[in-house]
Order: sequence, then structure tokens, then C-alpha cells
Amino acid sequence: MNIREKLKELGQEQLLKFEKDLTKEELSILEKQLETIDFSYLDELNKKAEPDIREVSPIKAMTRKEIEERKLEFKKVGLDALRKGDVGLLLVAGGMGTRLGSDHPKGVYNIGKTKDVFIFQRLFENALEVVKECGRMMPFFIMTSEKNDEETKAFLEEKNYFGYDKNYIRFFVQEMAPCVDFNGKVLLEEKGRVASSPNGNGGMFKSLLKNKEAYKLLQSSGVKWLNIFAVDNVLQKVGDPVFVGATIKGQYQVGAKVIRKANPYEKVGVICKRGGSPSVIEYVDLTEDMATAVDEQGERLYNFGVIFNYLYDIDLLYKIKDEKLPLHIVTKKVSFVNDEGELVKPQEPNAHKFEYLNVDLVEFASSVLPFEVIREEEFAPIKNKEGVDSVESAQKLLELNGYIL
Ligand code: UTP
Repeated sequence: MNIREKLKELGQEQLLKFEKDLTKEELSILEKQLETIDFSYLDELNKKAEPDIREVSPIKAMTRKEIEERKLEFKKVGLDALRKGDVGLLLVAGGMGTRLGSDHPKGVYNIGKTKDVFIFQRLFENALEVVKECGRMMPFFIMTSEKNDEETKAFLEEKNYFGYDKNYIRFFVQEMAPCVDFNGKVLLEEKGRVASSPNGNGGMFKSLLKNKEAYKLLQSSGVKWLNIFAVDNVLQKVGDPVFVGATIKGQYQVGAKVIRKANPYEKVGVICKRGGSPSVIEYVDLTEDMATAVDEQGERLYNFGVIFNYLYDIDLLYKIKDEKLPLHIVTKKVSFVNDEGELVKPQEPNAHKFEYLNVDLVEFASSVLPFEVIREEEFAPIKNKEGVDSVESAQKLLELNGYIL
């Protein structure tokens, strides 16, 4: 079936609406893109969401008190693992950062006030602290997307990876999914280009394995654990020896850094068990009863939120790489070409994107350690331009921790 017939069958003929305005070469590029687009994502729009009827129960977190008491013991185990080269880093940085509203990769955002302090710089500096302590570089994998790969690489090369040895760094590109309007019609971002966006942060390990160079380093370095983290938390510790040690010592398959919720209704995913398996429940799915439930000591039962900093046993990642993850439909602002052929940059969310989420991987682990970190010391995410989780709030937190910006 040729591409025109395929589009007709899919009810997506609008994608060739401007073909008369395109040069021969532009049209051929568009046709090639159309051939590679995975339209099966759209099937998700017609699926009726099945309610999750699994029983939810609490999971115990390792609190600061216990961590402080056992800190030296954990640190020794963690440093031993780091010194043996058992730990690698995996930064997921393929997102579009639409809430921040910058057209550049989030990591290149400068949050300095009197000097340059880039988001990537904060992460590399934190990694280098551990390198100094354990005396060796950790393999550092960075997931980008076709939207930001070139710029991310050029920026980090120009900045000399902020002092990190580039022989230990490997980039790999994640997959894309089409963007659709609220009527299920795939959008055009240019007259000759379909709007697509990175398909979420859940497929990171599979994408890593597909990249020859990244896979080679993963294999040759023999890492046993991968610390997976997001780009936007400028205070997070990566390769943290105490966290690594606590996860290994307790023989967990996954460690998850968590924060104590500020209030029962805080908008963070809460770590719990569902149907007996570790799981993260979205704040919207937490009922009033669950949000406020307490144990005999008066401690809230669902009180620890994940901050997207995990330590994964590599064997588990290999084992689950082909598992089917749920596909999430999210609503975002997507620039598009309207019927008149004009580019529209919407002020409000106008489209659906399809994403696999990293958080869903937790369910495949037989055991997870929720490891409490102090919010003010280790959680300064930059999601929005202003207000909550913004550049300003992160700057304040960095300054509170003694950073000069
Ligand atoms: P977010 O959920 O904050 O998404 O990503 P985002 O796309 O960066 O930002 P918004 O929602 O459009 O404002 C959390 C982490 O997952 C990465 C991001 O780069 C960030 O580190 N991510 C997200 C990916 O690597 N790929 C994706 O497809 C989505």
C-alpha cells in the first residue's frame, strides 16, 4: 500500500494538504517521514482505559533516621561498588521541557545570576564529586531525542563536559511518536514535516541498547547498577555512595530516592504497593482516605514521593527490556501549521502526545528501597518558568545550600 492509500485508510490525509506548496525534494522528505511514523500510537486514543482494581497498600521507606545511623556502613558498601566500577549513570534528557518554554535542551539553561551556571553543569559537578571520592569515572549515558541531540552534544563538547572525561560519556537517541490534535488528527509542524515528540522516558534502556557505542561501553565497563535520573533536579546527588550502598546492602533490585510529602495532597507520585508489587501511584489517583491514612504512630502511610532518581540492577533492566509498558496520553502545547498554512504557537495545551514512563518500570522489580532524602538538600526541580518548581525556586534552594549563582 502506498503512503497516500495508507493515510486515507488511517483518516490522516490532512498530512499531505500542503503538498502542492512543497518542492519535489521537500515532498520526498515528507513522504519518507510518513513512512517511518509509527501510527499505531494512535490506537491508544480509541482504547477505553481499564480501571486499575489492584489493591493498594503502603510500602515502608528507609527514613533519614535509619540512614544517618547506618551512613558509614552504607557508604563503605557504596564506595566499594563505585571503586570496582559497578555503577553507571543514565541521564534522561530527551524531553522537550515545554513548561519551561525554552526552545533549547533544558540542560543548557543558564540558572546563574552573577556567573554561568548551566543545568547540565550542576549535574556534571555532582557526578565529579563522587568521581573524586571513589577515584574513578563512572560510565555516563545521556539520552537525547532527535529534537535536541545535536544541540546537547555541541553544547557539552564546547563546555568540555564540565571536566568529566568524555571517554566515559555516550549519547543515544530515543524514539519519537506523532502528536495529534484533540480530534485525533496528526499535526504538521511545518507544511512538509509531521509534528512528533519524544515518546517518553520509559524506553531508555531499550534505546541505549540499540546504540552501538553506548552498548559497547555498557558491556565493556561491566556496570552492575545504573543510576537513572532526570535532567531538571539541579540539587540531586548522582552516584551517591550512601544510596548505592543502602540498595546493595539490602539486596534490593531497585533503589528509589523519595521525599517526605509536604502535605497529604502534594502533587508527587507516591511509592506504594499495588497487587503486592512495588508501584508508584499518581497523586490524582490517591483517594482522600489514602492521602490522610496514618499508622499507629500517627505517621502517614502514603507519605513518600519519588523524585526521579533511581538505582536499577542492570540484570533487571535486561530482563524487562521487552515488557510492554502502559502508554500514557498527555496533553501539551504543540506548535502546528493551521488549515491556512500559518504556524500557530498555542498558549494553551492543544494536543496529545504519547509517552512511556520510567515510573512504570518499578512494577517489574521484586523489591524496591524507597530511600528518603531531605527535600531542601536534594530536590530542586526546574519544570516551570515561574512559581512552583521553577528557575527561581531552584535558585533559592541552591543558595540555601551554599551555592553561589
Ligand atoms: P518531564 O516529565 O519533565 O517532561 O521529564 P519534559 O518533556 O522534559 O518537560 P515538559 O513536561 O514538556 O515541560 C522528566 C525527565 O524525563 C526526560 C526529561 O528530559 C526529564 O529529564 N524525558 C521526558 C525524556 O528523556 N524523554 C521524554 O520523552 C520525556
